[in-house]
Amino acid sequence: MQQAIAVLDSGVGGLTVVKEVMRQLPDERILYFGDTARTPYGPRAPEEIIAFTREIVDYLVQYGPKAIVIACNTATAAALEDIRERVNLPVIGVIDPGARAAVSLTRTGVVGVIGTEGTVKSGAYETALKRLSPQVKIISRACPSFVPLVEDGNFRSEETFRTVAESLNPLHDYAMDCLILGCTHYPFLAHCISEAMGPEVLLINSAEETAREIQAVLSEIGNLAEKEESPAHHFFCSGDPNKFKNIAQDWLGRPIRVSPVLWQVP
Ligand code: SIN
Repeated sequence: MQQAIAVLDSGVGGLTVVKEVMRQLPDERILYFGDTARTPYGPRAPEEIIAFTREIVDYLVQYGPKAIVIACNTATAAALEDIRERVNLPVIGVIDPGARAAVSLTRTGVVGVIGTEGTVKSGAYETALKRLSPQVKIISRACPSFVPLVEDGNFRSEETFRTVAESLNPLHDYAMDCLILGCTHYPFLAHCISEAMGPEVLLINSAEETAREIQAVLSEIGNLAEKEESPAHHFFCSGDPNKFKNIAQDWLGRPIRVSPVLWQVP
């Protein structure tokens, strides 16, 4: 069996990256871990997020993956460097790809970033954006209420539209033309975010650019998958497997296999 790409997230958000990997790299096998029992990571301390990410990576490494994708902005901000030092595999995060897309697409030079408290507090997007384009102006806003809505599968209710509109209201004071969805959960709410921001603001979903980066990294090390009719993907989650499966199958548009993993939940 071909080696898989291991993808991890605090919950269902990393499925936005999985969907794009399946589209761009259809021969690749995917092993996914959603830490749904301990989501959200956003309000947690960086040390705790590093410990959780290490635990998931150690779990996935048992399956001999060829690369690790930290498909969670909060975990990328807190733990990317730590995991790169710990494992002898390519480790790809989601912040640099999103920043690259925004810098190449902005015309006004004003870029918005929405994410969890952890991601916004870390300043990781500011660092990545300024490295690419020192003159870019960045407006960041934490939206802590979004991840719980997504994990509950609550994508289209009136409450969801209202919560999203209220959270994004302060961003209307700025002339941004791009808004980075700096949390992999947020593309599930793209329809509400787009309605709240209006047609002039382009939403940047880092999933597409992340999948391109995975392709580039695997191609550089000569480890892209051989042609495969239906690669055997596998999904693990630490919380309710049925809830995870319903959201995942709906989002990915295909049946999947999910195995529950029992964690000690603090
Ligand atoms: C979270 O678990 O709070 C969000 C995950 C992310 O930042 O992408």
